[in-house]
Amino acid sequence: MEPPLTKKERCMLDGECGPGKQQAMEILVALAKIYGAKGMVPVTSAQISGVSYKTIGDAGLEYLEDLAAKGTNIEIPAYLNPIGMDAQGWEEMKVPKDFAEKQLKILNAYTSMGIKPTCTCTPYLIGVRPKVGEHIAWAESSAVVFANSVLGARTNREGGPSALCAAICGVTPKYGMHLEKNRIADLVVDVEVALPDRSDFGVLGAIAGGVARGRVVAFKGIKKADEDKLKYLGAAMAAFGSNSLFFIKGITPEWKVRDGAENITADESEMARMRKTLDECPEEDIITTGCPHASLAEIKEIAGMVRGKKLKKPLWVCVSRAVKEIAAEQGLAEIIEKAGGKLVADTCMVVSPMEEMGYKNTGVNSAKAVKYLPTMCQQRVHFAKLEDLLGFRGGKGAKK
Ligand code: F3S
Repeated sequence: MEPPLTKKERCMLDGECGPGKQQAMEILVALAKIYGAKGMVPVTSAQISGVSYKTIGDAGLEYLEDLAAKGTNIEIPAYLNPIGMDAQGWEEMKVPKDFAEKQLKILNAYTSMGIKPTCTCTPYLIGVRPKVGEHIAWAESSAVVFANSVLGARTNREGGPSALCAAICGVTPKYGMHLEKNRIADLVVDVEVALPDRSDFGVLGAIAGGVARGRVVAFKGIKKADEDKLKYLGAAMAAFGSNSLFFIKGITPEWKVRDGAENITADESEMARMRKTLDECPEEDIITTGCPHASLAEIKEIAGMVRGKKLKKPLWVCVSRAVKEIAAEQGLAEIIEKAGGKLVADTCMVVSPMEEMGYKNTGVNSAKAVKYLPTMCQQRVHFAKLEDLLGFRGGKGAKK
């Protein structure tokens, strides 16, 4: 059944607001019918995935160029997920020319509709921070779980096209995470282990996500976690279990557990078992970090680790362009570059064509990257703490 629509929504659906808005509203109404939404909810921002040429290919490019050619414009601020290359440094990255040309066309189609080329999966690190209770339409799975859980915003895990439609119409179907009744945990995880490293949060996220399978998770026993650690936790939960929301007692803005929720424990042995499962190969050709995109705090830490040293293997630190520019101003990019590493902006190890650049084995500290690198980039993955990958605990990555 068609949901009730406001006058403006009806105008868009009937084509009175232009063919692009009509096309977008038709998709949103179809989704509302599928999910049984009782109407639309206005959203304050959209974050759009499906931006890399690698993931959307020629069909995606054609669709976007057609939409842009109809004179379509967005209604609300909208931001892009990473593309398949550093938009300004793709030649240096050795991205194939044909790929780069198509990628730039995709970027052009999005920006001509008014979408900001932020090219990051961490918009919340560059000032896009919706408030508690604010409805948004974000698509990148790690950003969705961060926005819902850490910021307390309301968003479903949109697909790239539905987030784009929300940007064009300013609304999204009201179901799922937009409804208070669904923001309740059905799985409680008792964490009986210390989590000193960011990668530990990824391991925990892989365990919890695998059991939860989309259900909301409530963690007990985590005493302290900064935003970077929560970013790694949520990214892994989304990758291993399609989660969109978690709670941590005393840390996240919400905490609600259903009576009779399932209970599991994450202890030392469970963590060790998962860490072993994630670590497929002992050696890498390249070390990559910044999945989700690195914060300035992470870059500072890396610069501190590699200052005055020479890395034996290439290092990519994946970041948004905005954060890269701040890191450059602060001299951090130069320190990392002198050691042989790179701040790679706009893209990441998963959505770039790594397999076409000659890499076969990648070292990562992100559980989410472990999940996707084998299938999306044909990589074997060495999963470890970053300092171990870089060679600061008896490893082989760096020398004085
Ligand atoms: Fe972001 Fe790429 Fe990881 S989009 S979350 S860095 S797979």
